[in-house]
Amino acid sequence: MTILAIDTSCDETAVAVTKARRIISNELFSQIETHRKWGGVVPNLAKRAHEERIDGVVESALKKAKKSMENIDAIAVTYGPGLAIALGVGITKAQELAKKYKKKLIPVNHMEGHIYSCFAQDEHEQPTKDFEFPYLVLLVSGGHTELVLFTDHITYEILGQKLDDAAGEALDKGARLILENDIYPGGPMLEKMARGGSATYIDFPRPMSHSSELNFSFSGLKTSLLYALKKISKEEREAHKNDIAASYQEAVFDSLCIKLKQAIVKTGVKKLLVAGGVAANQTLRDKIKNLVEKQKGSVLFPTFKSLYGDNAAMIGIAGYFRSEKGLFAKNIETVDRVPRASLDDLEVF
Ligand code: KG4
Ligand code: ZN
Repeated sequence: MTILAIDTSCDETAVAVTKARRIISNELFSQIETHRKWGGVVPNLAKRAHEERIDGVVESALKKAKKSMENIDAIAVTYGPGLAIALGVGITKAQELAKKYKKKLIPVNHMEGHIYSCFAQDEHEQPTKDFEFPYLVLLVSGGHTELVLFTDHITYEILGQKLDDAAGEALDKGARLILENDIYPGGPMLEKMARGGSATYIDFPRPMSHSSELNFSFSGLKTSLLYALKKISKEEREAHKNDIAASYQEAVFDSLCIKLKQAIVKTGVKKLLVAGGVAANQTLRDKIKNLVEKQKGSVLFPTFKSLYGDNAAMIGIAGYFRSEKGLFAKNIETVDRVPRASLDDLEVF
């Protein structure tokens, strides 16, 4: 089963060719430069950029894979969650290709793509790690923070989720407050700033840590940062930027780890998967590895660096496991965007 996969859920125009768990090609046009000056993703600019780039990215994914549409067995496309008008561009392209070349269409949830990114292989099937269900999954991206029980292929139970800002959003907003500009995305910048800084310079709260619920809340933390910055002089802020960044980042990551530990205790599941853009952060990965070691568990992160952020290879791999269950769209025409799609309410169309 060779799959052409498309993801236009946010600010990357992504197309890949995959075969089961193997990535044959994984192409991407990033719109970061378009959105940077606005301090975040502007939906109508994203839509236009997707429309301008999608044909070129499809072409280059096929070319890199040395395939033509005739060699493709099915098309996988993200139906949600994501920005409505951005999702629409990928879905329309997938429908057009499916009709023109008479291919089956597999609608995929973007977050299940992030989960399957932990099982991706290269063209030569490396690395190989078999599925050993159940897994406890922490999804950390710009729009989502979720704890999920992954009990079997394409079967998820949400244990907890964000009540306000997502972890990535908290990092993005924090970086903007510390740097006093509209930097986007702030997560990688905060990681750089925090390097060598003291994580105990400011004692930020660990939101939700006393609650037995597995939900996350980060908006209060952002307010704490705002107050902390107001209290100090310009000179102190300048001199201690890395300490402030390290303390704030630590509070976000500690909050994630506290819930992760609670979830391990609650479920007894010690095999972890951690995915999404924020998992690219080395400090977070080290903290999680530490936690897992203490709990005598194990953790998998996305197999390759290119799979932390948004990409289409992860959609192709999740699409393959959907196809194994016969979850093809029954009617290509009715496949539609679901901006608030949830993992425990999977669409098939
Ligand atoms: O999964 P992703 O690429 O897109 C969404 O589906 O949201 O996640 C993007 C998020 C942004 O908030 C970005 O700041 C964050 O991931 N991010 C990072 C790092 N790289 C990306 N956060 C912390 N450290 C990083 N190195
Ligand atoms: Zn994502």
